[in-house]
Amino acid sequence: MERTIEQIHEEAFKEIKSVTDSESIKALSSRYLGRKGIITHFLRNISSLPQKKRPEAGKRANEVKKSLDEAFKLALKHLATESLQSDYKIDVSLPGRTIKQGSLHPITQITWQICEILEKIGFDIAEGPEVETDHYNFEALNIPKNHPARDMQDTFYVSDNIVLRTHTSSIQVRIMEKFTPPVRIIAPGRVYRCDSDLTHTPMFHQVEGLMVDKGISFGDLKGILTTFIHHMFDKKTSLRFRPSFFPFTEPSAEVDILCVMCKGKGCRICSHTGWLEVIGAGMVHPAVFENVGYDTTRYTGLAFGMGIERIAMLKYGIDDIRKFFENDLRFLRQF
Ligand code: PHE
Repeated sequence: MERTIEQIHEEAFKEIKSVTDSESIKALSSRYLGRKGIITHFLRNISSLPQKKRPEAGKRANEVKKSLDEAFKLALKHLATESLQSDYKIDVSLPGRTIKQGSLHPITQITWQICEILEKIGFDIAEGPEVETDHYNFEALNIPKNHPARDMQDTFYVSDNIVLRTHTSSIQVRIMEKFTPPVRIIAPGRVYRCDSDLTHTPMFHQVEGLMVDKGISFGDLKGILTTFIHHMFDKKTSLRFRPSFFPFTEPSAEVDILCVMCKGKGCRICSHTGWLEVIGAGMVHPAVFENVGYDTTRYTGLAFGMGIERIAMLKYGIDDIRKFFENDLRFLRQF
C-alpha cells in the first residue's frame, strides 16, 4: 500500500534527526525533494487520485515539501556551527571581542580645530623651538631684562640666556626675521611656566597668530577673532575687547567671551562676572618691528595668542586642567 503524505513527513523527520554530517543531509534532501524524490513523485501522482481529493492532497503535499525544505536547511546550519565549534574548541555563539580603538588626545583635537578655522581664514602654520633664547622669548618682543613685565610669566631658565619658551609669541619674531610682509601665520605649540594649580600646569599649549601687511587695522583683529570665536563656540557667543597691556602690542586687548556655562548670568566658572577671558591680542608694537627690521611707516600688524587648554576646558566643561595630563584612560576615552 502507498504511504500517506503524513507518514512520509514523519519518516523524513526521523531520518533528519539521526543524520550527523552535512553530506548525508544533502543526500537525504535529494532523496525527498530531488527531481526523482519521494515528495516529487507523490506530487506527480496526484493526478491519478479521484478528482475531489486532488486539491486537498496537492495543498498538503506542498506544505510538507516546504516544511522538509526548511528542516534540511536548519539541520545543515546546525551541523556547520557544530563542526566549527569542535574544530576550534570555542563557543562560536559567544559575541566577538571588540578591538579597542585609540583616539586623539582632546588637546590635539582642539588644536586641530583651532588651526582648521584659522587656516580657512588664510593663516599658514608656523613652528619654533620650545627651548628658546632670551632674545626671542623676551628681548625682541620689547621685554628687556629686569623689566617688570617679565613678572607676568614665571620663567624656567635653562641658563642665563636660554629659557623654556613662556609663550608662542617667540615664533612671531623668528617668522618676521625670515620673511618680508605680507605675513599671515598661526603657531601652535607647547609653552612652559613655573605655575601649578586647578587652572595652571607647568606645561600647556598656546596658539599664536600674526598678520602683517600694509593697512592692517584693529578692525581686522576684531573681525578675525569674532569669526574665530563664532566657529569655535557658536554663532551667538558675544565677545568683548577689554583694554590690556602686553609689551609687544600697542594698543593691547584681552578678549572675553560671554560665559559658555551660564550665558552671562554669573557662575563659578566665570567667577560670577558673566565673562571669560580667552585671548590676548593687540597691534604689533613698533619697537618689535624695529627689532626685526620692518619699516614701521609702511606696515602695521595684528597679533593674538590663546591657551588651548582653556578653550578645551570651556568647550568640554572641564574644571581641572590637570585632567589633560594625568592620562587617565577613563577621562581620555570620553573624547
Ligand atoms: N603671549 C601672550 C601671553 O602669553 C598672548 C599674546 C599674544 C598677547 C599675542 C598679545 C599678542 O599671554
